[in-house]
Amino acid sequence: MIIWKNLDLVEKGEIVGEDVYDPSGFIVLLKKGTVLKEGDIYLLKNRGVHMLPIYVEEVLVSDDIEPTIEYETFRELSENLDNTFEEIKRGEVKIKKVVEQSEKIIKNVLEKYEEKVLNLVRRDQKPLIRHVINTSIISSILGISLGFDEEMLNKLAISALLHDISLDKNVRDVLDYYDTHPIRGAGLLRKYFSVNDEILLGVLHHHERFDGKGYPRNLKGSAIPIFSRIIAVADVFDTLISKDFEGNPSTPYEAIRFIVSNSGKMFDPNIVEKFVHYTGIYPTGTLVELSNGKKGVVIKVSSGILPLVKVDDNIVDLKKGKIYIKRVIND
Ligand SMILES: [Fe+2]
Ligand SMILES: [Fe+2]
Repeated sequence: MIIWKNLDLVEKGEIVGEDVYDPSGFIVLLKKGTVLKEGDIYLLKNRGVHMLPIYVEEVLVSDDIEPTIEYETFRELSENLDNTFEEIKRGEVKIKKVVEQSEKIIKNVLEKYEEKVLNLVRRDQKPLIRHVINTSIISSILGISLGFDEEMLNKLAISALLHDISLDKNVRDVLDYYDTHPIRGAGLLRKYFSVNDEILLGVLHHHERFDGKGYPRNLKGSAIPIFSRIIAVADVFDTLISKDFEGNPSTPYEAIRFIVSNSGKMFDPNIVEKFVHYTGIYPTGTLVELSNGKKGVVIKVSSGILPLVKVDDNIVDLKKGKIYIKRVIND
């Protein structure tokens, strides 16, 4: 199997799992199958590569499954937020209501964080609400791994909940109109937050790109507010894996590959690194084929990279059975 490893944790003698490109995406720095030498690691560092696909032989796992947020809590949040969005659009909401909902998310995420579980709801009656809750969950996890204090975490979770506030819930926005949604969203929130408020700026810049090619202001690198850089990763991951949007949903495995390959282009490399560390390369929901020929789904990521697999109704403890993941099934 292949896992993504931070370059600082890679050791000589390890085998490269896929061709490694330089950050421009055009030059192959190392071929798939290369046995790493000290000099290779040095070269990759100099070329700005941060994550490396590495072959590993065995997967070790343990423990039970649980979703990041209980489904009941999710339903409740979804109901409340639906009303809150309407109230914000009418300019009527008491912002305390949004704070209460973000606090609930943080509380749930904090309880589950140590267990390294990212188990998201992937389809719902209310696609936009589902999407903003998931974006807020992932953003909070990233905020925790970046060492945010509680006040910052709450602001981040609120910003993520509100990031697509101006998108229409029912009608798909036409593209021209879509491009202006960060500005329109920030406009709606001006009643509640000042122009320089982190929550408002997080919403305004969530479609900026790290390389400066995003919108609405073409901000680049650390000029993009940190909340927006976090929300950008969470937003794209949820959009790619969810079944609510047009096109085929990506597997979580493919979605992470997309995020890694856009590190430094669309996304802040530091945040991508935290994200990969948390989700691993076999995130919850990935369909896999095991070495015994059985197919299963990853139900828990342990230690960032080591999943627990459910086959039919059984949970396979790969550690005991000496079974490993042969490949990811893309369907
Ligand atoms: Fe958006
Ligand atoms: Fe979004």
